[in-house]
Amino acid sequence: MAATATISLPGEVPEQWALGDWTVPKGRYLDPDFLALEYERLFPCVWQMACREEELPEPGSFYEYTIGRQSILVVRQVDGSLAALHNACSHRGMRIIGGAGRVDEFRCRFHGWRYGLDGANTFMFMEEEFAERPVECRNLRAVHVDTWGGWVFVHMGDEPEPLLDWLDPLPTLLAPFNLEGMRYAWRKSTVVPSNWKTLLDAFVEGWHNVGTHPQMLRVDEGDPPSARPATVEEFAHGAWTPSVMYRNHSRFIYQPRPFTGVVDPGRAERVSRPEYFATMMAYQNKHIGSLATERDVRAARSLVGRDIDGPVFPAYLQACKEFAQKEGVEGYPDMTVEEFNAGNGDWHVTPTMVFLVEQSCLLGYRMRPNGDDPDSCIWDVYSLEHFRSDEVPDTKWEHYPVWRDHDWGQLITQDLKNLGDIQRGMHSQGFQELWINMKQEGAVINHHRIADRFLFGVDHGEPPPFEM
Ligand code: FES
Ligand SMILES: [Fe+2]
Repeated sequence: MAATATISLPGEVPEQWALGDWTVPKGRYLDPDFLALEYERLFPCVWQMACREEELPEPGSFYEYTIGRQSILVVRQVDGSLAALHNACSHRGMRIIGGAGRVDEFRCRFHGWRYGLDGANTFMFMEEEFAERPVECRNLRAVHVDTWGGWVFVHMGDEPEPLLDWLDPLPTLLAPFNLEGMRYAWRKSTVVPSNWKTLLDAFVEGWHNVGTHPQMLRVDEGDPPSARPATVEEFAHGAWTPSVMYRNHSRFIYQPRPFTGVVDPGRAERVSRPEYFATMMAYQNKHIGSLATERDVRAARSLVGRDIDGPVFPAYLQACKEFAQKEGVEGYPDMTVEEFNAGNGDWHVTPTMVFLVEQSCLLGYRMRPNGDDPDSCIWDVYSLEHFRSDEVPDTKWEHYPVWRDHDWGQLITQDLKNLGDIQRGMHSQGFQELWINMKQEGAVINHHRIADRFLFGVDHGEPPPFEM
């Protein structure tokens, strides 16, 4: 395995980056030194999602995962297993290949050394002219690799904890969703003018919904609904999305508001109707391209005019399942409402992976720093679905070097428009620290608490248990 020097950690957080009770110093988002520490101590020491298994369909398929200056090749082996290799020739370090594709072997084009799919050296030109070294010095250095949920994860460290232990409690709570049975519906990538964690924070709390996405309260008012700023009264109708914090990860969930500050009986009656619900699903499918599939929209519409006993949502889940089964979707989740609620929500898998998981589909994000610039990041966004096998679309990564060059749909565009201004605003001399909502922005501070273990050797202990 890769020889990673054991880094001795200071055991305390330097004052300028120390977390407050519910505050986060802005330097963690702005300082090049902090980004350098993340590259040195965080990313080499955690499991990171590299790609989906479907991106490595046959022996010789490879995918290059990059994080900062590190490039790792994930490679499908002849026996179907996976290997991950540092992408650096063992002769003089040349990067061997980039992007994704299929090869029979790896060949360094500098002096022509060759490597098998497992990284073993198969050809060294004029071997007798080299000094004796242990045979493994000839090979590409291996990286730990494992899979869960259809994703491939890599870990550059020496002795990582097992992937499933690191991911706890996701493997248990998400098992009924059969994530490994999902396939890409679409996948896109762009560059965003903010720190990678500024982008992360924008997708790990649902509390910005009314401020940033006010049209979500008005989906029955035309298509697209008006995005005029929400009135103070409208804020009372926003979803309540408390954070659940775990030792290594976080999520937010959707809950009924725990108080009834403003009651508008007319509105409550209107939004509980199946027709309003169907319009919401149609909005998500059309303007986000995820969270509800085309089949889900038909399932939601089938409830309109039906005599539904109780709330719409469980009936919707059941209808989605019936439509999928009737239309021959193999591996569609067959779970109870309780199992759905136990896993549903918006997950942050430390450090770079975020997804919102539904019964039929999943909206995923990945955010990584962009070179040494703390004010820039690389953003990947994709949707996965449970497809019938003959429906699976042939997708490729679409790259948009400038995010404004692409139409991301109404909702995602609103998030993207915020990000440059959030990053710029944090640079203001009039702003020093983020002030975190204790109920609904827990994920925003939890990832910093988790990172402190790796960056500084400071363990903040178990997060407080979730309370409504
Ligand atoms: S650097 Fe690869 S063969 Fe010389
Ligand atoms: Fe948003």
